Amino acid sequence: MTKAKCVLTILFIKTLHLSLLTAEDLPIPPLLDYTRQRGQKIFELDAKEAQHRFSSKHKAQTLGYNGDYLGPTIKVQAGDAVSFKVKNSMSEPTTVHWHGLHVPAEMDGNMFQPIRAGGQWQANYTIKQEAGSFWYHPHKMGKTAKQVYQGLAGMYIIEDKNSMSLGLPSQYGVDDIPLVLQDKAFNRSGNNLTYDGSIQTAMMYGGMSGNTFIVNGVLQPTFKVQGKLTRFRVLNASNSSLYQIYLSDKSSFQIIAGDASLLDKPVRTNTILLSPGERTEIVIDFSRFKKNDKLQLRATLKDGREITFMSFDRNNYKDMGSKVPRKLNTASNVNKLKIDKQRRLKMGHHLRINGSTFDPGKINIKIKEGDTEEWIVQGSNMVMRGGFSFHNLHIHDVTFQIKSINGKRPKPELSGFKDTVFIPPRSEVRLIAKFKDYKGKYVYHCHLLEHEDLGMMGIFEVG
Ligand code: C2O
Ligand code: CU
Ligand code: CU
Repeated sequence: MTKAKCVLTILFIKTLHLSLLTAEDLPIPPLLDYTRQRGQKIFELDAKEAQHRFSSKHKAQTLGYNGDYLGPTIKVQAGDAVSFKVKNSMSEPTTVHWHGLHVPAEMDGNMFQPIRAGGQWQANYTIKQEAGSFWYHPHKMGKTAKQVYQGLAGMYIIEDKNSMSLGLPSQYGVDDIPLVLQDKAFNRSGNNLTYDGSIQTAMMYGGMSGNTFIVNGVLQPTFKVQGKLTRFRVLNASNSSLYQIYLSDKSSFQIIAGDASLLDKPVRTNTILLSPGERTEIVIDFSRFKKNDKLQLRATLKDGREITFMSFDRNNYKDMGSKVPRKLNTASNVNKLKIDKQRRLKMGHHLRINGSTFDPGKINIKIKEGDTEEWIVQGSNMVMRGGFSFHNLHIHDVTFQIKSINGKRPKPELSGFKDTVFIPPRSEVRLIAKFKDYKGKYVYHCHLLEHEDLGMMGIFEVG
């Protein structure tokens, strides 16, 4: 090779390499606007088919609420009367479910409130619960997994008097940042997603998972840190993956909230496990790092792989005056509650719960309105190719507290109110929930989305 050619080749390789490394900024889903009418906040959502670019090399046909992928963040206050006008501009039916929200059965947005292609639906309810980080997504039987995978998911933040009085980082998009974590599989040319919702994959590996890791719809973005203390509301919106998240330098951060409430006290740790559907709120103090150290958000997957979600650029932050107080909340003490009824749920064999598969015409559990129940949930003991088969459990309508895991009190980060809980293989998890305010039919299910779609779900009726 001549000298000139050689230099050119090196230049070419260099630019190629650079383009591979050019990271995109972390996109922040916009807050959903609303209008006020007779004391109600009116929001509009439109589920549509679109095209989305995940990186300079990855694009796909996607679905999005009001945009081309994912959806805007909904932010409301406890006590608000809200109304959602939902439009389905897609060519197939869907629903919109408010995951973790305590709402009347007919407003829940599950398979019993379908929105046909081209149709509309309106949900009206009052926010009757404390601050937390929730989300919304489709819940149409047999279509949930694929529609979420293609992009239908958004964050739903509730604030209350307590959460706003604490001085926590809470400027949305500045020092209060949603992180929607997902994994995707792309075809060879990177111009579309591939999807496998087969029963074989669901049974062997827990469902669809991919090798491309994205945050807020973008591959390996970089977040430019603005606040010395920054709060991240992290959602595992994957179909079936367990993310044991940590910072690349293994340094610690504070967990301030679980799925559905602030914890009583912040918990200092250096890792947290999120199963599909679960959320956590963490606060990272960026002043502990030297400016140019690389810092990334990473995760260990259940097969032991270590993956990178995103990077933090810490060259330009300032103290915004926020803090993490020692006391955040007062949760009820589950051990003191009077239990009206105990029941057992066995997760497992052939994607069934208590041996049965989803039947829309059958009520699996009847609950008396006002009762406090203890659910004793047993994990699976099946061994699959990917290791033990595992599940989690999500209950609509209520938020619950974990009383024990294998007879022991849960770790402090699991002590707040939750709506989704990981059920490790061969374990026994006890949950306490109060079924109040509303009557009607709701569902409980494994939140591994292909498991759910394949029938790992039951109906409970509060009456
Ligand atoms: Cu996140 Cu029944 O759903
Ligand atoms: Cu839900
Ligand atoms: Cu499952």
